[in-house]
Amino acid sequence: MIASHAISLARSSDAPGIAALSRDAIERGLNWSWTPQRVLRSMRDAATNTIVVREGEMLAGFAIMKYREEDAHLLLMAVHSMRRRQGVASALLEWLEVTARVAGIASVRVEARETNFAARQFYGKHGYRQVELLRGYYETRDDAVVLKRLLRI
Ligand SMILES: CC(C)(COP(=O)(O)OP(=O)(O)OC[C@H]1O[C@@H](n2cnc3c(N)ncnc32)[C@H](O)[C@@H]1OP(=O)(O)O)[C@@H](O)C(=O)NCCC(=O)NCCS
Repeated sequence: MIASHAISLARSSDAPGIAALSRDAIERGLNWSWTPQRVLRSMRDAATNTIVVREGEMLAGFAIMKYREEDAHLLLMAVHSMRRRQGVASALLEWLEVTARVAGIASVRVEARETNFAARQFYGKHGYRQVELLRGYYETRDDAVVLKRLLRI
């Protein structure tokens, strides 16, 4: 498990790396929507947290979560292919959930491709349950599952 102190808020210099990891690990086969400019915009949004795990010059992983009044939306999360299955995503998710709890958020939702076995296993292990299936959510090509975790009853 990566220690929580390895997690930090993203800096603007992280934006190109985050965008590239999103393009390669999450948006593969789709149009690149999380460009560096969009990542920067979300970093500047007061209701959004963008966090990273850096290892020297390398971006091991990142996550972007948007907080609303009652619920939070995990917009993106990815771990570098060389750093998977080492607890990086678990550490990122824990940081975001602790922060959400402190903010009084009741639930977290996230979408993943229905075919994304690793992500579905990952979220399942962390208490997320499928609440919806969105047909054609990814540019009409792929279906999405909506996964949700209640942080408080
Ligand atoms: C999904 C993803 C974020 C998981 O990151 P990670 O750092 O490897 O996850 P962790 O090491 O914290 O994994 C914790 C648990 O998740 C599950 N898991 C993660 N990857 C898995 C895989 N490939 N197959 C099966 N289970 C998996 C396991 O239960 C794992 O525990 P274990 O290693 O003790 O078996 C990573 O695979 C990734 O970046 N995928 C591409 C991008 C993506 O799909 N993002 C999510 C949708 S936005």
